[in-house]
Amino acid sequence: MSDRVIFFDTTLRDGEQSPGVHLNMAEKLQIGHALAELGVDVIEAGFPISSPGDFESVNTLAKEIKGVTICGLTRARDKDIEVAAEALAPAESRRIHTGLGVSENHLQHKLRMTREEALATGVKAVKLARQFTDNIEYFMEDSGRADREYVYQVVEAVIAAGATTINVPDTTGYTFPTEYRDLMAGIKSNVPNSDKAILSCHCHNDLGMATANTLGGVIGGARQVEVTINGIGERAGNTSLEEVACALYIRQDFFNLKSNIVLNKLVPISRLVSNLTGMVVQRNKAVVGANAYAHSSGIHQDGVLKERSTYEIIDPHLVGAEESAIVLTARSGRHGLKHRLMELGFDFATDRFEEVYQRFLDVADRKDEINDEDLRELVKS
Ligand code: KIV
Ligand code: ZN
Repeated sequence: MSDRVIFFDTTLRDGEQSPGVHLNMAEKLQIGHALAELGVDVIEAGFPISSPGDFESVNTLAKEIKGVTICGLTRARDKDIEVAAEALAPAESRRIHTGLGVSENHLQHKLRMTREEALATGVKAVKLARQFTDNIEYFMEDSGRADREYVYQVVEAVIAAGATTINVPDTTGYTFPTEYRDLMAGIKSNVPNSDKAILSCHCHNDLGMATANTLGGVIGGARQVEVTINGIGERAGNTSLEEVACALYIRQDFFNLKSNIVLNKLVPISRLVSNLTGMVVQRNKAVVGANAYAHSSGIHQDGVLKERSTYEIIDPHLVGAEESAIVLTARSGRHGLKHRLMELGFDFATDRFEEVYQRFLDVADRKDEINDEDLRELVKS
């Protein structure tokens, strides 16, 4: 099995489906270039048949962005596939992403098809897509809630028809990590031709487990992850690219896998996507949140000032963030205060420092955070 994880970014497709997000063409292109520089392998640029804007997005990225595969989403319908092929035509490397649902829920309530009809529709779609490119990804929507035996049957049939990547979406964010791992491992061990395709994780975050499930899928044998910047996407979002890339790197001892992601571009691209989409990144968001490298309690500050690794497993410079911050609050200790005062040019003898520290606690009890201006005032008085 390959020791490299392929990063398939769907910020411009599933991510743009976030309620309230709408990007214009110039913004999509800016994000597309930033994704290529970040080192993603595949950019899902849109769903070409869904609107003229999506067609233009896929077509423009296909023309402008080199060194990366551009992908367009389709339903398992002839017209969708033909329109996607047209949009993708100028790409240096192109992929058609087609498929349909596999769970009983989707078959009965949404597709209104029998298992056999859905399987035949999927196979036909792959065969048609193969006329335009040999890079075909097949998605089995709602795999997380589907019957495993049926999933195996679909995987075997669509690989035989020419699919080269098999997307196993946990569309509703229903599974948990060991379950999703076993789903991937089950496909690998029960589908005779599964070695002819790459298995892909596509997880949603409804129960807050998208990253854990994606990593579970990788442990189970998947070698592609479908992710978005800042985890934006439908409902509670998709798996966040920065979390998976960072976890694979920080826990190399465990995963022993590589990726092409340039880690120090993670924070800059997170900020770019947040600014362009208007989706604010929560302060405590893993890897890219404003508080991810900020230490507020005295015990933690003391540890970090002595040796960063006591409380930080990620060096902020690794992901392109600023220096770790010592945030002065009522919970800060003498070590944190002394450190900041020295950075501001104040070096007090012990008894004078003790006096300043007591005054600091007094003010800190009334104020959330003590900034440099507050400190200068405090020292003057
Ligand atoms: O979540 C999902 O199942 C999807 C598919 C269309 C790939 O986004
Ligand atoms: Zn999705």
